Amino acid sequence: MKRFCGVLMAGLVAAFAWGGAALAADWPGTPTVTYPKDNPYSPAKADLGKKLFFDPRLSGSNIMSCATCHNPALGWADGLKLGKGHNMAELGRHTPTVINSAFSPTQFWDGRAATLEEQAKGPIASAAEMNQNPEALIAELQAIPGYVAAFERAFPGKGISMDTIAMAIATYEREVISAYAPFDAYMQGDDPLAISASAKRGWDLFRGKAQCISCHSGPNFSDGRFHDIGVDDGDEGRIAVTGKDRDRFKFKTPTVRDVTRTAPYLHNGQEATLMDVMRYYNRGGDRSGNELKALNLSEAEMHDVVAFMKSLTGQPVVVVLPELP
Ligand code: HEC
Ligand code: HEC
Repeated sequence: MKRFCGVLMAGLVAAFAWGGAALAADWPGTPTVTYPKDNPYSPAKADLGKKLFFDPRLSGSNIMSCATCHNPALGWADGLKLGKGHNMAELGRHTPTVINSAFSPTQFWDGRAATLEEQAKGPIASAAEMNQNPEALIAELQAIPGYVAAFERAFPGKGISMDTIAMAIATYEREVISAYAPFDAYMQGDDPLAISASAKRGWDLFRGKAQCISCHSGPNFSDGRFHDIGVDDGDEGRIAVTGKDRDRFKFKTPTVRDVTRTAPYLHNGQEATLMDVMRYYNRGGDRSGNELKALNLSEAEMHDVVAFMKSLTGQPVVVVLPELP
């Protein structure tokens, strides 16, 4: 697999944020994944991780899998305003997609998990989500010969533990990457007609007057950082993780690749459509003192930015559902 070196990536992100179109020839398209040193890729691991991701036996009730909320048919999210957990109780936040989560330097809207490995353990044990007792889960999986064999192939001699479960799931998630999009074809100069005139105007607005690129930057259209864009729902975001006053109301910048598939939008799902998101940005957000300014875009300009975002959607990540042991 083609690897994308971190330094080059940082350079590109910076140059891209300043220069834009000049870089077309170097545009990498969908970025490529690097695997952490302490959890390198193996086909056996990814295969096991896929089974676990789709297996409802990971939950205490045995009826909820990761894919219940991160459903490939719904853009690897759930299409709901707020997630629904154990006993269908509503969660505090909107379910984000797992597409391209491999490129996020931290996980969750507030970045409270440092890695995908750490993240995966959260929902399994959380009473509000999968409500599973880790020891009971390990015993349950150890009683299934197909899993015992699959763990042995993926982690020789290491056995079944919350760590190996999380490492397998994270390896699978690193394969859930958005496909080459019409915008990539346009940027690489292969096809000047790959995107519409409206999307091209939208791209100019995105990196110009509308200043979207100051946060949605680089090949994954996210700076991976935290910002206060003025959502007014009392959720204080990142400050719960760092305790630092400057992080109050900050949330992680999501990717806008494949974003047409993951409505509704924002950490509380308050905006139903991409046009609603544009109206939100145009008024400079809802709570004063946030990082945005009102944009004064016309209705036609907002449609152009939406057309640009649509050009960032590629073919869906197709999955053949795994046979569970
Ligand atoms: C009940 C619904 C539900 C289930 C089940 C669930 N998730 Fe999530 N997931 C969420 C919600 C809601 C969030 C956001 C929570 C937050 O940020 O506070 C989230 C966040 C994530 C993220 C972070 C994405 C990002 O952009 O930061 C990843 C990755 C993820 N989940 C993977 C998983 C995996 C793996 C499983 C199974 C072990 C799983 N989820 C099970 C609802 C769910
Ligand atoms: C100051 C940084 C910043 C700027 C500027 C910015 N965004 Fe965002 N964007 C974010 C953050 C942070 C979120 C998540 C906020 C939340 O949910 O509370 C977000 C969320 C979004 C979402 C929702 C994605 C999802 O999966 O829910 C879209 C779409 C989006 N931005 C597009 C844009 C567009 C278009 C512009 C320019 C008009 C723009 N953004 C400008 C930081 C920014």
